[in-house]
Amino acid sequence: MARIAVIPGDGIGKEVVPEGVRMLELLDRQHGLGLRYETFDLGADRYIRDGTTMPPETMARLRDEFDAIYLGALGDPRVPTNVHAKDILLGARFQLDLYINLRPIRLLDERRCPIKGKRAEDVDMIVFRENTEGLYTGVGGQFKRGTPDEVAIEQEINTRKGVERIIRAAFEYAKKHHRRSVCMSDKANAMRHGHELWQRTFKEVAAEYPGITTFHRYVDVLAMEMVQSPERFDVIVTNNLFGDIVTDLGAALQGGIGLAASGNIHPGKVSLFEPVHGSAPDIAGKGIANPFGALLSAGMLLAHLGRDDLRSRIEEAIRASLLAGQVTRELGGTLGTRAAADAVLERLAS
Ligand code: NAD
Ligand code: IPM
Ligand code: MN
Repeated sequence: MARIAVIPGDGIGKEVVPEGVRMLELLDRQHGLGLRYETFDLGADRYIRDGTTMPPETMARLRDEFDAIYLGALGDPRVPTNVHAKDILLGARFQLDLYINLRPIRLLDERRCPIKGKRAEDVDMIVFRENTEGLYTGVGGQFKRGTPDEVAIEQEINTRKGVERIIRAAFEYAKKHHRRSVCMSDKANAMRHGHELWQRTFKEVAAEYPGITTFHRYVDVLAMEMVQSPERFDVIVTNNLFGDIVTDLGAALQGGIGLAASGNIHPGKVSLFEPVHGSAPDIAGKGIANPFGALLSAGMLLAHLGRDDLRSRIEEAIRASLLAGQVTRELGGTLGTRAAADAVLERLAS
């Protein structure tokens, strides 16, 4: 039996997550997975209603009583401070120590790559984004706020432990999955302190994996080469902020942000799975959001529970739907969220 905490969250999160749960239920019926769900009312509506973001006892329950968390997205124009998203999403990443933000970039349908002439095998990389430190910790402060002399400081945290474990996770993945190379990306030419630590740690860990080719790219060049020659990249490891940015770029290479999936993982512990996209307030409530990123994320959740075979089946069903043009409008189709998910579920059912 596996216990899954469901947090639909905000905006299109509330539209795509139910489709993912419907797919999990179907696969459970087929394979006897014994999945149990509990849905949590967390997000902007709850925050606006009673001021709750993430109660400490709820976080403790997520840690102690669940095997996986399935999340939609957080972010709402009515909450301009984004405080609820920080407490819920960044709160889970930090407090549950979900140090691996795993973001595959795979081109399932060649026709959807924005770069001409690229084949599916040219766009097949996976990003290991550090997920517990970097520029995301909120360490810093403001001084003389609102005056002409104001100062705002956002500190970047890089610990030896944090840097080493994400780099090691990337190498372990490369070894296990017979990937040919690991590329580390930083900005050590401008950021001498923190990113020198990345360079040194990368060299030391790489020495333990002699069979794997390693190389380094400054993040500006990485962005350029991901577009120019995506085939150059296999496993990429980088810090929290750079990983955020290059995975949206990667989503575009795959054919769109609605197709990108992710896992926030601590191996052996409760981990959180969510599409890479946000709450998309511009299309929320219309039933037109692409559910595929959420479905692929549910596949990653199943892989975390030991069923990588089911993750592959989901990916194949989505590839087939893409090839058949059974897609939502932003990809040039005519289907709504539910109908696009139905096309995938029908393939999985047969
Ligand atoms: P976004 O990803 O929500 O939207 C960017 C663009 O992509 C929009 O035009 C949107 O309509 C489109 N889009 C996104 N997902 C789509 C889908 N599944 N199908 C079709 N089109 C899709 O990014 P944003 O607009 O910068 O952010 C909106 C809110 O979401 C913000 O509050 C942001 O902080 C939050 N956000 C949350 C997460 C998360 O919870 N993990 C991730 C990113 C952004
Ligand atoms: C993501 C999102 C988040 C991030 C935001 C909502 C804080 O963009 O998951 O990619 O920057 O990590
Ligand atoms: Mn992002």
